[in-house]
Amino acid sequence: MSFPETRLRRLRRTPALRRLVRETTLGPDNFIYPLFVCPGKGIKREIPSLPGQFHFSVDELPREAEEIARLGIPGVILFGLPEKKDEVGSEAWHAEGVVQRALRAIKKAAPDLALAVDTCFCEYTTHGHCGVVVNGEIDNDATLENLGRAALSYARAGADLVAPSGMMDGFVGFLRESLDEDGFEQVALLSYAAKYASGYYGPFRTAVDSTPAFGDRAGYQMDPANVREAMREVALDIEEGADIVMVKPALAYLDVIAEVRNDCDVPIAAYNVSGEYAMLKAAAEKGWIDYDRVMLETLLSMRRAGADIILTYHAKEAARLLRPR
Ligand code: PBG
Ligand code: ZN
Repeated sequence: MSFPETRLRRLRRTPALRRLVRETTLGPDNFIYPLFVCPGKGIKREIPSLPGQFHFSVDELPREAEEIARLGIPGVILFGLPEKKDEVGSEAWHAEGVVQRALRAIKKAAPDLALAVDTCFCEYTTHGHCGVVVNGEIDNDATLENLGRAALSYARAGADLVAPSGMMDGFVGFLRESLDEDGFEQVALLSYAAKYASGYYGPFRTAVDSTPAFGDRAGYQMDPANVREAMREVALDIEEGADIVMVKPALAYLDVIAEVRNDCDVPIAAYNVSGEYAMLKAAAEKGWIDYDRVMLETLLSMRRAGADIILTYHAKEAARLLRPR
């Protein structure tokens, strides 16, 4: 049957009919909210490259965490700005590092929040690369050892999810083994499985001072031209024990999310990264877009592509709009 018997507008006629045939949902349950933890006391400092996002000292986090939980957002992911940087990023596995202390503080203030930790070294190293530098290159296997140290220290401090983001080969299997050996078989792995070498990370790198001092990350992050390779990355990570696989960035890689969705049954996360957020903020500031509307439409596109979970700086704003009143 076709027109005039078939008229697709019939089911678009009223809000109730549209609700009945809506195929995709978006709600606070889908969000993980990124938090930046800095040294010091009494600090809640707005990040210039990420308007509306803040650096928090540990003592300011309980209040923030309670608000996030009240908004119905189930999880946060922590990024640390260390007290001091060194060649290998050893602050990342310091038992009293900012992230470790933040984990304990948030666990106490908002025990129901799921706590994830971005597990990488670029914020912690003097050179800004995601691992150990040997002869000007990032040494994969030496970096794994340090990732294991960091993961264990986050697990000890109460992390529910360890999220390795440095695109080292074998990091999921290595971390699964390290965690299990120490009795942390309950700690889940959220793998940045298909993470592209992207210009969209710009505002984040300014925010955490992690721009590489030499070269770029193309030797470990993925080439934006590749999708078959993303499928291999995802398949390997699942085989190695990833509980959740992530595609990052999200908006320019919706095809990758859809392809991963078609191919596997593990939960998929999408990272709506800093540059995606900053573009909407800037356009809104100019009065060129309806911010709330474009934000929700953008987040919905990630759900429609197949993401179960969205890591997003919009989480609080979106949750306020989406919560049943
Ligand atoms: C660290 C890391 C980055 C992001 C998340 N974890 C930056 C990078 O790879 O340079 C980017 C997040 C964002 O842009 O919002 N490896
Ligand atoms: Zn990194």
